[in-house]
Amino acid sequence: MRPKQVFSRRGELAILLVILALFMLVPALVGLGIWRESAYQQLGEPVAQPIPFSHKHHVGDDGIDCRYCHTAVETGRHAGLPSTQICLTCHSQLYTQAAVLEPLRESARTGTPIAWRRVHDLPDFVYFDHSVHLAKGVGCVECHGRVDQMPLTWRAQPLQMQWCVACHRDPAPHLRPREQVFDMSAPRLDGEDATTLARMMQLEDRRRMTDCSTCHR
Ligand code: HEC
Ligand code: HEC
Ligand code: HEC
Ligand code: HEC
Ligand code: HEC
Repeated sequence: MRPKQVFSRRGELAILLVILALFMLVPALVGLGIWRESAYQQLGEPVAQPIPFSHKHHVGDDGIDCRYCHTAVETGRHAGLPSTQICLTCHSQLYTQAAVLEPLRESARTGTPIAWRRVHDLPDFVYFDHSVHLAKGVGCVECHGRVDQMPLTWRAQPLQMQWCVACHRDPAPHLRPREQVFDMSAPRLDGEDATTLARMMQLEDRRRMTDCSTCHR
């Protein structure tokens, strides 16, 4: 008499698949961990650029408005980076011979844009839009820190999902009056004022703000 089978053929296959999946899960988690780790390490580290452009000088000292160079920030998804022509409105008079500006002169001669290195770069499967945030009173400083004090630009926030979602769950304490979103030193409102402002902004409800399809479309 044949001994009774403990597992059916199908059962065996299922167990095999589970074991296989577990083996694949471990490297996947380790990989994700390493990726997160390296993403964190870049936080707060100045990014070297072809021209050592200083927001501290141009914004902090000279008081140039963000929109002068990031022209699309109020109207589009992307803030955009300034064209060579925008730099030349001043630097065709100022520092015209300076060695640090050679890449600018070369760009003007050849028509090739300056190859700025990205400081922030979300994965393609994430949908982000600058204009929505500004219209609802989320200032640059909430996400980019004190750019006006940066000699070279660095990333001030992790830009990870938890970070986005944490604010989306409760945006009220992060808002400023609309005319202050470009002002790096304007304080947030608190208490009663923050609640009133949030009500005025007529924010989307929390379910929509944390829905997967809001950021992954
Ligand atoms: C005179 C032009 C100019 C002005 C004014 C200016 N920026 Fe910039 N910005 C640049 C240039 C050029 C870069 C690319 C080099 C770099 O990353 O530093 C840049 C890069 C950035 C980046 C990083 C972009 C990336 O790669 O992810 C942020 C964030 C930023 N600017 C925010 C601001 C904010 C906020 C203000 C206003 C408070 C501002 N900028 C005003 C010229 C300007
Ligand atoms: C509205 C005028 C204006 C525009 C536009 C402008 N700059 Fe300047 N830039 C200045 C002034 C003024 C200084 C002297 C800054 C200082 O010392 O406070 C300067 C200085 C510099 C310097 C010398 C080093 C330093 O930071 O002091 C570099 C490099 C420079 N700018 C690059 C750029 C680039 C690249 C752009 C375009 C993205 C640009 N600038 C756009 C006015 C401008
Ligand atoms: C709610 C958070 C948030 C606010 C507020 C915000 N940014 Fe950004 N910014 C981001 C993120 C996230 C990215 C990266 C986008 C990507 O990689 O697609 C980014 C990218 C940028 C870039 C790189 C070019 C681009 O458009 O991708 C610039 C320049 C910039 N921001 C400037 C600004 C300025 C200026 C303001 C204020 C007027 C501002 N940002 C407000 C989150 C924010
Ligand atoms: C400091 C607060 C804050 C942070 C951080 C933030 N957001 Fe938002 N986000 C808001 C507010 C406020 C709105 C406006 C909601 C409304 O229209 O009422 C918004 C709206 C949006 C919308 C449009 C929602 C719609 O109505 O369709 C998208 C997409 C979005 N955020 C993506 C992101 C992503 C992706 C990140 C992270 C990279 C992020 N946000 C980080 C506060 C924030
Ligand atoms: C407010 C914006 C926002 C919402 C809402 C959101 N995500 Fe994300 N998600 C992001 C951003 C930004 C990243 C990429 C960066 C990161 O997480 O490190 C991301 C990354 C991911 C990843 C890649 C793995 C990882 O953790 O990096 C997965 C999977 C994911 N999201 C699934 C979801 C699901 C499922 C939901 C709904 C429960 C959701 N997301 C809701 C912004 C959002």
